[in-house]
This record gives sequence, C-alpha cells and structure tokens, in this order.
Amino acid sequence: MTALRDNLVEVRDLTKHFPITQGIIVQRQIGAVKAVDGISFDVKRGETLGLVGETGCGKSTTARLLVRLLHPTSGTVLFDGEDISSRKRATLKSLHRQAQMVFQDPYSSLNPRKTVGSIIAEPYAIHGLYKGEGERKQRVQELMDRVGLNPEHYNRYPHEFSGGQRQRIGVARAIALEPKLLIADEPVSALDVSIQAQVLNLLKRLQREMGLTLVFISHDLSVVRHMCDRVAVMYLGKIVELASSDALYTYPRHPYTGALLSAVPVPDPTGGKRERAILTGDVPSPANPPRACRFHTRCLKAQELCRTEEPLIENKGGDTEAACHFPLTEEEVSEQLPGRSSARADASAGYSSSSTYSDSRASSSPLLLQSLISRKSER
Ligand SMILES: Nc1ncnc2c1ncn2[C@@H]1O[C@H](COP(=O)(O)OP(=O)(O)O)[C@@H](O)[C@H]1O
Ligand code: SF4
Ligand SMILES: [Mg+2]
Repeated sequence: MTALRDNLVEVRDLTKHFPITQGIIVQRQIGAVKAVDGISFDVKRGETLGLVGETGCGKSTTARLLVRLLHPTSGTVLFDGEDISSRKRATLKSLHRQAQMVFQDPYSSLNPRKTVGSIIAEPYAIHGLYKGEGERKQRVQELMDRVGLNPEHYNRYPHEFSGGQRQRIGVARAIALEPKLLIADEPVSALDVSIQAQVLNLLKRLQREMGLTLVFISHDLSVVRHMCDRVAVMYLGKIVELASSDALYTYPRHPYTGALLSAVPVPDPTGGKRERAILTGDVPSPANPPRACRFHTRCLKAQELCRTEEPLIENKGGDTEAACHFPLTEEEVSEQLPGRSSARADASAGYSSSSTYSDSRASSSPLLLQSLISRKSER
C-alpha cells in the first residue's frame, strides 16, 4: 500500500490565457486575457485553503482549472499525485467523482424544470450509481437530511426554496459522490447576511464529518478568516501572498493584503485611530497588466524597483510567503490595522481558525454579520 501524500493538490506554474481575437471570417489573435498567470501552491489533505482577491483577479478560473472544467494554457495540476492537466476529456470522469464544485449563484446553477430529488441525484445518473429508484431516492433523502433540508421536499422544484436552501441543494449535489476535494466558489456571496453564517457552518461541519479538503473562494477577507487554515491572496492572475490565516490577518506582509484588510471593519478596544490604506483606482486589465510588480499602479509603497523588476514570491518570515520588494513592516501594520494586536494575542494563545463561524472571537467579521450569527447549530 502506498503512503498517503500530504498534499491532495499540487499546482505548479499554472497559466490560463484566454485569446482575444479580431476579424469576422478569419479570426486573428490580437492579445490574451491573462486570467491566471503562473501560480504555484499546494492544498494539504484535510485543510481549508482560502483564495481571495478582488473580482476579476482569476479566482474562478483557478477553481475551474483545478477540476479541469478548463484546460490550462501551461503548467501542471497534480491531484492525488496524478497529473490531470494534460488528461484527455474522456478520462476526466474519475476526477469529477473526487473533486466537486459549489457555485456562487444558487439560482442559476439549478435547473428550474427539475425536482430537487432529480437535481441531487444527477451525479448518480452520470456515474451509474444507485440504479434502483427506491435506493436512489433513499440515498438522496439522506443527503437532504444531512445538509439540513426536509427530505419530504424531494419532489419540490428549486423556485419553492429560499436562497439559502437552494445553496444547500447545490451542496448536497456536490457531496453526493463523497468527493475528496470540494471547491466552494463564493458560496455565500449571493445570500442574505443572515443566511451566510448558516451555509458557512454547514460547509465546516461537512468538512469535519467527511474529512473533506476544501478550497474556499471569496472576495471577502472577513469571511475567509473563519473558514480557512491558510489563505492565498490573488491579484491580477498572480498569488501575491500565501500564509496561515492567523499570520495573514495579524501580520500581512503584502501591501495589497494590508489594503484589503484595512477595508474590513474591526472593533478596536483601544479606540485607536487607524490609517486606512484604502485601495484607489480600478484593477488594471488582465489583458494588459502593469509591468514588473502588477500592483505598483495602486501601491502606496511603490518605488522605481517595483516598476522594473518583478518581485518573486518568497518566504518573508514565519510561514508567510509574499511577492513584494518592500513588504509591510510591523509599524505600518499597527498603523493601518490597530485592532490586530488583540487578534495577535488570540493567535499566540492558541486560537484556531477552525472554530465555528459563530465564535465570539470573530473580531474581524463584519459587525452586522457577527451580530446575526447564532451559537446554535446551523439548522
Ligand atoms: N471564458 C473566458 N473568456 C475570456 N475571458 C475570461 C473568461 N473567463 C474569465 N475571463 C476573464 O478572466 C479574468 C479572471 O476572471 P475570473 O477568474 O472569473 O475572476 P474572479 O473569479 O476572481 O472574479 C477576468 O478578466 C475575466 O473577464
Ligand atoms: S513590490 Fe513594490 S509596488 Fe509591489 S507591492 Fe511591493 S512595494 Fe508595492
Ligand atoms: Mg469568480
């Protein structure tokens, strides 16, 4: 028997460029959208890895590359030790059994003409499992119960459910085949704040119960902290910082991470005034990204070197990797994020980010969301 690898997924120099073409009869490529542009990271077995960044920075494209819904332009993805980046489409069925996605929009990702029972049973139909009608129905109703849906609603249609319940249907379908990897792409962004915590707690519970490895994608750093063990921050197709959740939130090194965190409301017990590093300007186009450091057009610390030499991602102390010539200092972090000192004390006292989302130490979650999260289970 071979030993289990520590990493379920290993990504190396992955790129996805979407061609931009011109012409009506003869199409000529005149450029490319560099949606993902040379990223490397691992997803450890059983962990939750967060992927954050502003809209358009390449998160969804990365997710689709991981499960081979998209073919990469170059680079490799090893899934459980096997290179899936060059596999032919016909051989992907076994991968799709082991790696599943939950999508952002629970309205458009469910077929309105199908009953919930047949939507959740789709993976069984595709993979030829539980062929007997009674057996399949029983299995689907077990899944419905597991995700907090009433199994008696088996014959109802998606429009008869609320947004949160529809997302539970999407989750039930995604876990039907008991995958090893679940990728949740902005799973709560389309939901009311009051419902978000319930769906997040559901994902965490399922991860615990099923030993899932989770990739959790969000543009909202406050949500990511309480879901994730480690976090990768993306900017314009690149990973600019990768660190444990606690390290990233208490001592971000990349100015982009600092600016994102600066926008998250934090109650500061000392009443200190914070120097907000607000992000100005739009994200540049990934078809024509800035030279060298892609963040230099918006970075408060940019210098000449940043415009001429690309910073490589490298260790910046502890377990933090960042791609920056002039990373944030402790002083700058405490000016921009004064409320972090208490969070840092939490971290050093052994606070684990794997606690449930209702944890009272959720100091950086948006205040409204925090106040609506109950201590009860998500049902
Ligand atoms: N199929 C596609 N064809 C062309 N461009 C695309 C396609 N999919 C995504 N893009 C572009 O790639 C960039 C990254 O998109 P995406 O991965 O969806 O970002 P995110 O999920 O972080 O918002 C965006 O500029 C987007 O417009
Ligand atoms: S390399 Fe320079 S421009 Fe880029 S993030 Fe660091 S300081 Fe800012
Ligand atoms: Mg997206």
